[in-house]
This record gives sequence, C-alpha cells and structure tokens, in this order.
Amino acid sequence: MALLMREMRDSLKANKQRYNSGLALHKIPKGFQDLPTAEPTEQNMLPDAFPVLASAQTATFKKFNESFTRDEQMAAHNLAVESCLTCHAQACPGPVPAIRKLRID
Ligand code: HEC
Repeated sequence: MALLMREMRDSLKANKQRYNSGLALHKIPKGFQDLPTAEPTEQNMLPDAFPVLASAQTATFKKFNESFTRDEQMAAHNLAVESCLTCHAQACPGPVPAIRKLRID
C-alpha cells in the first residue's frame, strides 16, 4: 500500500505541475482502483472506515477521468486531494502537509 500511495502522490503532483504549466493533464492510472484491497504495512493501522474511504477515493479518480475541460479536471483533482486528506486525518497524519500541497489553486 505504501508504494501505491507514493504512486498516487507522484501522479497528482505531476498533474498539478502540468496544470500550472498549461499542459494537458494525464488520466489517473487504472491501477489506482486497487486501493480498497491494497495490503497495508500493518493491518492494525487501518481505520474501521478504511473500505468506505478507499472506495470514495477511487470514485474521485473515476470522476477525474470522466472530466474533460480544464476547469472540470481541476475541480476533480482537488476533490481527489480532499479525499486523500479525509482518510489521512484518521489513518496516517504524517503525509498530510505533503498531500495539502497537491491542491491546485
Ligand atoms: C482510505 C485511506 C487512505 C486514502 C484514501 C489515502 N491514503 Fe495515503 N495512506 C493511508 C495509509 C493507511 C497509509 C500507510 C500505508 C502503509 O504504510 O502501508 C498511507 C500512506 C501514505 C503515504 C506515505 C507512503 C510511504 O512512503 O510510506 C503517502 C505519501 C500517501 N499515503 C499519500 C496519499 C495520497 C496522495 C492520497 C490520495 C490520492 C492518499 N494517500 C489516500 C491511507 C489512505
């Protein structure tokens, strides 16, 4: 799961940079849909709400991939970042500052 998390972070970071450079954004990789079943480093680190929060996250990725205009993509990107933060507030606060920086403003 830690690897998938880093890939998600890098993907959103790259899209933020592309957005700020005026480039077209990349689709979110399909593999990120595996988040709900990813193996954590320690099982007991997951909050009870993990399955619900992980599905909410993958729904934001679908929404992003169904968005086409720059404004829609930006809004969907920022919703995905908020979804990261919702789980991280409960599960793993360490990366929260880095995740906040993924917001496009
Ligand atoms: C449903 C809960 C949940 C969601 C949603 C979530 N995370 Fe995580 N995240 C975790 C947990 C739990 C860990 C610790 C994983 C482990 O060590 O196996 C983690 C770890 C991380 C890490 C540290 C990885 C490392 O190097 O050890 C980063 C960075 C991260 N998440 C970024 C993100 C980003 C970006 C998003 C949104 C795209 C996101 N997370 C969405 C629960 C979540």
